[in-house]
Amino acid sequence: NEMEELVAIFDQAPGVQDHKGAGKAAFTQGDVRFDNVTFQYPGQDTPLYRDLDVSITPGSRVALVGPSGSGKTTFTKLIQRLYDTTTGRVLIDGVDVRDVTQDSLRAHIAIVPQEPMLFHRSLAENIAYARPGATQAEIERAAQLANASAFIERLPEGYATLVGERGVKLSGGERQRVAIARAFLADAPLLIFDEATSSLDSESEVLVQDAMHRLMAGRTVIVVAHRLSTVMELDRILVFSKGALKEDGSHAELVRREGGIYRRLFELQSLEG
Ligand SMILES: Nc1ncnc2c1ncn2[C@@H]1O[C@H](COP(=O)(O)OP(=O)(O)OP(=O)(O)O)[C@@H](O)[C@H]1O
Ligand SMILES: [Mg+2]
Repeated sequence: NEMEELVAIFDQAPGVQDHKGAGKAAFTQGDVRFDNVTFQYPGQDTPLYRDLDVSITPGSRVALVGPSGSGKTTFTKLIQRLYDTTTGRVLIDGVDVRDVTQDSLRAHIAIVPQEPMLFHRSLAENIAYARPGATQAEIERAAQLANASAFIERLPEGYATLVGERGVKLSGGERQRVAIARAFLADAPLLIFDEATSSLDSESEVLVQDAMHRLMAGRTVIVVAHRLSTVMELDRILVFSKGALKEDGSHAELVRREGGIYRRLFELQSLEG
C-alpha cells in the first residue's frame, strides 16, 4: 500500500547497497564505534571528517553539539549507513554496519527526527509504522508513554483520526510525541534524537522532554542537542567544529576547561556557536 511504498523510499539510501552475504543485524547493546573514519560527501571538495575515532559506551547518553554545518547530523547518518564512509569503519556492537542488511540495521535504531514526517493516514497507523502488526493496545500503550494519548483521545475520532491534508493538523510538539510513540514501539537498543531547533510551546516542551526521559532508559542515546538544559543532564558531550571532534567530556569537565568551546557556549547560554 501507499505507506509501505513511502517507507521503502525513505529506507533506501542513494548509492548504498546491501553487500552480498550481508547478515541480519542482531544488536542488543548499542555500542557505537567510529574507527578511523574519513568521510567526504559526494560533490564536496574536502572530507568533512578525517580519521575520526569515537567510542560510545552501551547505555550512555551522548550529546552532539556544535555550530551549524559542523557535522552533527552526518554523524547520525553514518550510524544508520545512509552513506558509506570514505575510509574507516562504523561499528555497532563490534559489527561493521556494511556487513548487515540496511533493513535490519535500521530496525535496531529508533529515530526521533527534528521535524517528524507523518503519513496521510490515521494516528494509529502513524504510530504503528515502527512495528507493522502492532495491536491497538500496544499502540495506545506507546502513545501513553510518549505523552501523546491525552491529545489523541481528545480528538473526535481518537486513534482513527486522519493526519495531514484532509485530516487533523498537529503542532510540532504533537508530531514529535507521535514520533516518540513510534520509538517506544520500535523498542530499539539505540536511540537517535534530533532535538527541534525552533522552540515548541512550553507545555509541549515539557511533555516532549518528559517522554524522552522515559524513552532513554536502558538504551544508548545520541542527541543532537540545541538546548542547554538537555545537554547538561546527558553523560557526555561531543563538541564538533567543521567536522573535527574538538572536545569530549561531561558538562562538569567541559565547563572547567579554560578557553574551551563548550565553556564559551555555556557562558553565552547558547549552543549554536
Ligand atoms: N547531502 C549532502 N551533500 C553534500 N554536503 C552535505 C550534505 N549534507 C550535509 N552536507 C555538508 O556537510 C557539512 C555537515 O553537515 P551536517 O548536516 O552534518 O551539519 P550539522 O552539524 O547537523 O548542522 P545543523 O546544525 O545546521 O543541522 C555541512 O557543511 C553541509 O553543508
Ligand atoms: Mg543537523
